[in-house]
Amino acid sequence: MVEAERMRVSVIGTGYLGATTAACLAEMGFEVLGVDVDEAKVDMLRQGRLPFFEPGLDELLSENLPTGRLRFTTSFAEAAEFADLHLICVGTPQMDDSGAADLSYVNSAVDQLAPHLTRPSVVVGRSTVPVGTAATLAARLASLAPVGDEAELGWSPEFLREGFGVEDTLHPNRIVIGTDSPRVEKAVRALWQQQIDEGVPFLVTDLQTAELVKVSANAFLATKISFINAMAEVSEVAGADVIKLAEALSHDDRIGGKFLGPGLGFGGGCLPKDIRAFMARADELGVEPALSFLREVDAINQRRRARTIDIARQLIGGNFAGRTVAVLGAAFKPNSDDIRDSPALAVASTIASLGAHVTVYDPQAMDRAREEHPQLNYAPTLRDAAAGADVVLLLTEWAEFKEANPENLAEVVAQRKMVDGRNALDPTYWRSSGWTYRALGRQ
Ligand code: UGA
Repeated sequence: MVEAERMRVSVIGTGYLGATTAACLAEMGFEVLGVDVDEAKVDMLRQGRLPFFEPGLDELLSENLPTGRLRFTTSFAEAAEFADLHLICVGTPQMDDSGAADLSYVNSAVDQLAPHLTRPSVVVGRSTVPVGTAATLAARLASLAPVGDEAELGWSPEFLREGFGVEDTLHPNRIVIGTDSPRVEKAVRALWQQQIDEGVPFLVTDLQTAELVKVSANAFLATKISFINAMAEVSEVAGADVIKLAEALSHDDRIGGKFLGPGLGFGGGCLPKDIRAFMARADELGVEPALSFLREVDAINQRRRARTIDIARQLIGGNFAGRTVAVLGAAFKPNSDDIRDSPALAVASTIASLGAHVTVYDPQAMDRAREEHPQLNYAPTLRDAAAGADVVLLLTEWAEFKEANPENLAEVVAQRKMVDGRNALDPTYWRSSGWTYRALGRQ
């Protein structure tokens, strides 16, 4: 292994995780080669264009490409020749109704890289995988690589949030590496030396614990969100206010206020599929009851979508047929154009299927939404989306929506009716402008 600053790194997979990791490592001074099987994606990245929206990442890409420290390829042979350390950053989507993770991209990354590894190499997985995957992959790598067990594999989960990917990569809250190999540990330490020097905790574990750290963190976060959403369900019928409840809970620092935001619940490419894959894996391991609570976490989350639709239906008199509905938000959360398992689009498409004329506006996710849900209508601005609406639903809490002026919007809607699916607006302010305001978990 060469000295840290000069270490050459290949990043396999150039989606949210891979592209962010590659650009951040180049920014940190490493020579980085991003690898992807998708030629079109590689071409875009070479031109400095990102295939998705992530704040701050386009700048890092365009600053680091001209330095030559950041390059992209489709060739695994080139990656093996170039790099001392290979990071696997491919996706592990939900496979089917079983909820299990689809490991075909991870397996394929190892299968395509390994035959080119003719000198001692370190391969580190960052993708989210079911516990036990890394050990199987380590054996597979050593059996396929010409260099044999001098091709070593460790697992180092990532914890970055979409929308904060650059910040979370450059300033992680912890670094975990699962390995029993001093060479793997040394390479990962060298990669994050700047961060370790800044005091970021560095934890060395076995492979299985490292894999579990990631899925249990996401399971905990999902549980926290569903916990407060369960309190919202109770608050609605008991006459309480879940926002005040959450605030009061948050002052207990054993509980804390983060991820205690009640509303439409979680979506995205991580939390929903990770809890399902975790349950599927627990089942395979014979400890299904240990995670059966996650089924309830998932169910609470789905019920919030149904409840949001019910509130809107009540507001317009019990029937969506022939009504005009404005949906603000398509991305699964603000500052992202990711629409995977988007609660906003799930609600919008159900309402459309019930006969309403639904018009969606999102500051970033319109193209993706239009592609996946061509049955919905799309408007170029918030005001256009709201034009003629019998009810407006705020389903992703973009700053633009939080700052919307209720009086301006009142000029274009047919009826002043707002369902705030994210508890993002000030009810007093909206009501004082003549709006009927409803939110989840509040009166
Ligand atoms: C999540 C984790 O937060 C990251 O730590 C992890 O690395 C990542 O998954 C991953 O596995 O790669 P992300 O999916 O980007 O990150 O999104 P979050 O910020 O966790 O939000 C997830 C969902 O929960 C969103 O739909 C958001 O609207 C919702 N949410 C979040 C709430 O409904 N209430 C809250 O209080 C917080």
